[in-house]
Amino acid sequence: MAQDRYLIAGATGIIGRRLTERMAQDGSVVGLSRRPPDSTMDGVRYLPLDLTDASACLQAMQDLDGISHIFYAARHDHDSKSPEKVEENLAMLRNLVEAAEAAGHPVRHVHVVQGTKYYGSNLGPFKTPARESDARVPGANFYYAQEDYLIARENEARWTWSTSRPHGILDDQPGIARSMAMVIAVYAALLKALGEPLSFPGTPGNFEAQYQCTNTAHLADGIAWLAATPGCANQAFNVINGDYVRWRDLWPVFAEIFGMKPGPVRTVRLTEVMADKAPLWDQIVEKYGLVPQPYEAVAVWPYGDHLFTPHWDMVSSIDKLRAHGFTQTVETKQSFLNAFAALRAARIIP
Ligand SMILES: NC(=O)c1ccc[n+]([C@@H]2O[C@H](COP(=O)([O-])OP(=O)(O)OC[C@H]3O[C@@H](n4cnc5c(N)ncnc54)[C@H](OP(=O)(O)O)[C@@H]3O)[C@@H](O)[C@H]2O)c1
Repeated sequence: MAQDRYLIAGATGIIGRRLTERMAQDGSVVGLSRRPPDSTMDGVRYLPLDLTDASACLQAMQDLDGISHIFYAARHDHDSKSPEKVEENLAMLRNLVEAAEAAGHPVRHVHVVQGTKYYGSNLGPFKTPARESDARVPGANFYYAQEDYLIARENEARWTWSTSRPHGILDDQPGIARSMAMVIAVYAALLKALGEPLSFPGTPGNFEAQYQCTNTAHLADGIAWLAATPGCANQAFNVINGDYVRWRDLWPVFAEIFGMKPGPVRTVRLTEVMADKAPLWDQIVEKYGLVPQPYEAVAVWPYGDHLFTPHWDMVSSIDKLRAHGFTQTVETKQSFLNAFAALRAARIIP
């Protein structure tokens, strides 16, 4: 039997990078995105491709051999101000899958990464815990459109599908500004430089609410397992670390790690209060001998506001994942500590 060959869409994204690294352990990998990755990985061929361009997809798929699995972690350009586009995200997935089929690839499985926004986590309080069988919430959501496409193809396609629903992505890769670890660490470094304690920038409700994270390496293991487990075919699975946290409990731990006093809840709009801190960040970079990076590239402050504003619990059940046999879990506090340690070792944060 031919060796499995994995095609990862969005291979340079925060999730796609780890997935690429993980799948390279099992077979040969082609990673695609429009822009090239910052660094190469052993066993990974890089393919520059714009998924919005259907004819470019057809051409690119004809130039490849033997794709057995498609892992989809791409995401159409978006900002924090408007909802993510439905038709464009759907077209990107469809362009890729149908180009691979047209080029005769022996695709056996298509995995699509979704998220807790499937349950309306960004819109307001939702059921605790959220389960995969929960009814969809009203309103447009590109996850629904992509999932409906997979379901509509289920009977005639030669592949099976699966989806994963992670939350609060936690990772230690350098060079990713839309990252929880980076937002928290850079925020802490700036406050420390100002001689302030580590106050919590979000809302009081957010400080107390239950939250959940997904470590990207754990997610990549879960996705690899879902794709390889026939009993998971044509289904969705929540994939989170397996524990639930509150910022209230984590904040003093972070303060200790960063050598600061824990501060009170002091609700601010990070997007506004951090806008003029580039000169201070440059001083921090100089003082601690960090790798110089443009201030805009170290932390996405609107993402911080998005994280620390909702006052409701965000809790997804992993009962289904466990019942199907994936029992690996990760401790969230330790995951944060590992991420900060790795970013420090890479001289990205002080
Ligand atoms: N990040 C989170 O906190 C989080 C949490 C839960 C769920 N999710 C879900 O996980 C999925 C992946 O998200 P992510 O945050 O990992 O994404 P991301 O970091 O924004 O990365 C997006 C990837 O897609 C590529 N891409 C964008 N437009 C493209 C195009 N037209 N053609 C080809 N490639 C394109 C990007 O590279 P180029 O720009 O170079 O093309 C990049 O590799 C999404 O469905 C997201 O909703 C994310």
